[in-house]
Amino acid sequence: MIPAGFVRLLSQADILSGAKAVADRLRPQIKPGATTFVAVLDGALFFLTDLIQELAMDVKVDFLRVSSYDGGETSGDLKLVSGLMSNVAGADVVLVDDILDSGKTLAFCTDYLKSRGAASVRGVVLLAKERPRLAAIEEPAVGFRIPDRFVIGYGLDWQGRYRHLREIFIKDAEKETPR
Ligand code: IMP
Ligand code: MG
Repeated sequence: MIPAGFVRLLSQADILSGAKAVADRLRPQIKPGATTFVAVLDGALFFLTDLIQELAMDVKVDFLRVSSYDGGETSGDLKLVSGLMSNVAGADVVLVDDILDSGKTLAFCTDYLKSRGAASVRGVVLLAKERPRLAAIEEPAVGFRIPDRFVIGYGLDWQGRYRHLREIFIKDAEKETPR
């Protein structure tokens, strides 16, 4: 099924090979049994799963849930909805998100993890939109750089829908309304 107005961007095989490539890049920095992977809910759930399975190392997992005050497609000011269960003081953390857009989510979550005492925070995203960032962030490890258009599937939603799709779809450039 391809949602109306969208075209296929990445197949299941593309996504898995992207997750494997990112895992290979991260591997030298991972301390088995000690590094904590913190995923940003809800979107990063799928990528976290594939990433740590491709990594095939014993890592800890925790979650953050954030939401933006404006509730739209892009992040306005963020607030923490649900924090960590574990203590990351002194820990090396890998912060996992589905997509990097303005950079505000990564900046907000990095600040939060540092405020909890994380020794280091390494960002990693499956997708990064090619656009200027609105927050000062260290460039994360990136699976795929993509055009600055809306994407859905593999955890990425539009108004809470389409997360379940195994493939990633991008808004058809021709059908996009200029903004
Ligand atoms: P940023 O804070 O602007 O970098 O946006 C990152 C967050 O916005 C991600 O965690 C996603 O939840 C959401 N997001 C940004 N772009 C898209 C998109 O194209 N599709 C679905 N969600 C998106
Ligand atoms: Mg998100």
